[in-house]
Amino acid sequence: MSNHTLEVNGQSVQVEAPGDLALLWVLRDKLGITGPKYGCGVNVCNACTCLVDGKAVQTCVTPVASVSGKKVITIEGLANGDALHPVQQAWLDMDVPQCGFCQPGQIMAAVDLLKRTRTPSDADIDAIENICRCGTYGRIRQAIRAAAAMLP
Ligand code: FES
Ligand code: FES
Repeated sequence: MSNHTLEVNGQSVQVEAPGDLALLWVLRDKLGITGPKYGCGVNVCNACTCLVDGKAVQTCVTPVASVSGKKVITIEGLANGDALHPVQQAWLDMDVPQCGFCQPGQIMAAVDLLKRTRTPSDADIDAIENICRCGTYGRIRQAIRAAAAMLP
C-alpha cells in the first residue's frame, strides 16, 4: 500500500492503495464515484473512460500510481454546477441512451474528441472505439455533431 494524491473532479484526494490498483477501482470502490463503468477490464469496451489531464483514458488499465498529481475528470465532474456540459446537453436533446451502461464512457470519449477538433469528420467519430451493446451509435453521432455546434 502507498499513498497517492490526485485531483478528482476538482478536489484533491488522497488514497491508500497498491500502486498497480486500477484507477477505475480507486474511483468506484474507494471514492464512491460510480459513473465510470466496468465492462471488460482489458482496454476493449471503453466503458471506464475518464479524462486524465484532459485526455480520454481507460481507467481499468491505468494504475493509480501513474496518475499521482494529475487531474481526473469523471462524468460526475463534467457539468459546471447546474449547467450541463454541451456534450451532456446534446446527449439529452438527442435522447441517446438506451440501457445507459456505456454512456458515461461514450460522453467522456466525445468530450475528448471535441477537445481535439471542433469539426469532427465521420472518420473522427468512427475512430471512437467505445462499445454500445444497445447500438446507439447513430444517435451518438448526431449528439456529437449537435454538441460541436453548441460549444462556445
Ligand atoms: S472496462 Fe475499461 S476498457 Fe472495458
Ligand atoms: S446504451 Fe446500452 S450499452 Fe450503450
